Amino acid sequence: MADLSVEQFQKLSQHIYQKLGLYFDDKKIYFLKTRVARRMAALGLDKAQDYLFLVAYADPEGQEMQALANLITTNETYMFREYDQLQAFANHCLPEVLSAKQARGEKRLRIWSAGCSSGEEAYTLAMILQEVFPQAQSWDCEIVATDIDENMLAKVRAGRYGQRSVNDVPDEYKDKYLTGNGEEYVVRKRTAALVQPVHLNLHDRMAMRAMRGFDFIFCRNVLIYFDDLSRKSVVDQFYAALNPGGYIFLGHSESVGRVTTAFKLKRFENHLVYRKE
Ligand SMILES: C[S@@+](CC[C@H](N)C(=O)[O-])C[C@H]1O[C@@H](n2cnc3c(N)ncnc32)[C@H](O)[C@@H]1O
Repeated sequence: MADLSVEQFQKLSQHIYQKLGLYFDDKKIYFLKTRVARRMAALGLDKAQDYLFLVAYADPEGQEMQALANLITTNETYMFREYDQLQAFANHCLPEVLSAKQARGEKRLRIWSAGCSSGEEAYTLAMILQEVFPQAQSWDCEIVATDIDENMLAKVRAGRYGQRSVNDVPDEYKDKYLTGNGEEYVVRKRTAALVQPVHLNLHDRMAMRAMRGFDFIFCRNVLIYFDDLSRKSVVDQFYAALNPGGYIFLGHSESVGRVTTAFKLKRFENHLVYRKE
């Protein structure tokens, strides 16, 4: 394990916070020590001091911060996670947005899965979209799946999942949208074609400014790792990224209301969602 002193840990966690928005309090010292030790071994470094110097002063392109990010993010996810919320999306929000677009003669729909991890959420949304809206294939529909962790984006591109990822997929969807042998499942081409994986750090202001024109943003179980200040800056960017009438979906334990009053709160089937008016 790396010989990080408390002071060094605090410096490193401050640096991580500035670059990634992830907040590591003092209870996470052991966790960070083990991750730093892995990076030091990979780089052939003996002293934590040298590693801190590298990250703070000799990493102009952010490559080392990226390698560390790949080790310190929590990637837990599975398809059809938080089913009730997805029902509100499928039964109310999606039909509402689609019929407004049809009334305006628009044929473009854009969804953003922000902090998509290995892609289960994005492919879930692709399945729901095709189910609710069979005409999706003749529209310009896109689900942009972004994450900071490059190892996870490689998994999104592969579109291959184990049993654990697909446990909650309704049976009638399994055959329709996936092929598999009971152990490994592969997302079918038509569904995979809707999803565009993109590397993006939610704390990269320039990259966030390029994200505009979305009808839905799903950022579930991501902001829990941020503090209120970094949460607010990301949610403000999400607001700008959404089209009027668009919706944002956060995880069950997360609330937009804590950091902004810009969205209108709506309730569908006992589920709260946030709309940009
Ligand atoms: C627990 S997963 C959530 C996956 C999915 N949204 C879900 O609810 O099942 C959190 C993801 O957020 C990503 N993440 C954390 N900080 C990030 C940042 N600053 N920019 C982009 N993605 C980030 C992590 O890499 C991780 O894959």
